[in-house]
Amino acid sequence: MTERLKQFMEEHLAPINSELEYQVEKLNAPEILKESMLYSIRAGGKRIRPLFVIAVADMFHNKQKEAYTVGAAVEMIHTYSLIHDDLPSMDNDDLRRGKPTNHVVFGEAFATLAGDALNTLAFGILARMDNVFPEKKVELINLLSIASGAEGMVGGQVLDIEGENKQLNLAELENVHVNKTGAILRFSIEAGAVLSDASLEDRKALVEFAHHIGLAFQIQDDILDVEGTSEQLGKTAGKDEASNKSTYPSLLTIDGAKEKLNEHYNFALKALEKLSKDTTLLQDFANYIVSRNN
Ligand code: IPE
Ligand code: IPE
Ligand code: MG
Ligand code: MG
Ligand code: MG
Repeated sequence: MTERLKQFMEEHLAPINSELEYQVEKLNAPEILKESMLYSIRAGGKRIRPLFVIAVADMFHNKQKEAYTVGAAVEMIHTYSLIHDDLPSMDNDDLRRGKPTNHVVFGEAFATLAGDALNTLAFGILARMDNVFPEKKVELINLLSIASGAEGMVGGQVLDIEGENKQLNLAELENVHVNKTGAILRFSIEAGAVLSDASLEDRKALVEFAHHIGLAFQIQDDILDVEGTSEQLGKTAGKDEASNKSTYPSLLTIDGAKEKLNEHYNFALKALEKLSKDTTLLQDFANYIVSRNN
């Protein structure tokens, strides 16, 4: 990771985490529910999605604090998707972010409900943002609804489960990954552009970047599932093969998956060239996503 990206992360992680915790802590809700929501939030995670919102806003010299709220919203959706993804009825995992999964600690009912509450809270905190015009808030809420719902993450999770125990072709697999993982990453990047009143051209280039980097993100997740250890990943390694999931390595071999990863990384960098702004931080980010080891 470059020194520049490291510094950027160090600067923004604490405010992202405070915003997330503040939004949950202040809820007037049953203590056990808040505890369960905070358990998964405080377990950590790389916070890539909020960091992308901030990095894009930063590129447009937009320092408004609402970028942290948008970042918290997308991280809430992501965290809820992980809690549900780990449920026995889905991937049935007992390790996440280096800790026992939410349902192992709180039981399936409260894990499901903590996910539901994070999901709905994400839209609430967008609606309640100060200093953002109502039209812009509606646009962000609409984009997040599309990215996280039936036409995005949730739809992708359905295709992922349907893809178990059968061989999808590359186009089908790409569609699973673009939806289950890419859609939320795309939201993060596009939201940074919306918040910053980016031109249509810049926004288009960023969406193209997001498409390829979102896909690359999940290809690297598939590769790490094969090559990483549970300790390094903070989640159970080798889970995809054990569950007969359709993944890039299972379809193309590890080398083929790495080739595709590199292809999408290069397409992502090409898209950045179309931007009118300084994209060095986003280039660093793209490189980190394809070379990360957790
Ligand atoms: C894991 O996402 C699940 C996917 C969508 C691939 P991350 O690798 O971003 O997980 P955390 O947030 O760092 O735990
Ligand atoms: C998860 O994909 C995508 C989500 C929407 C959560 P995976 O099932 O591969 O994520 P991990 O490997 O459990 O983090
Ligand atoms: Mg899954
Ligand atoms: Mg999983
Ligand atoms: Mg995975």
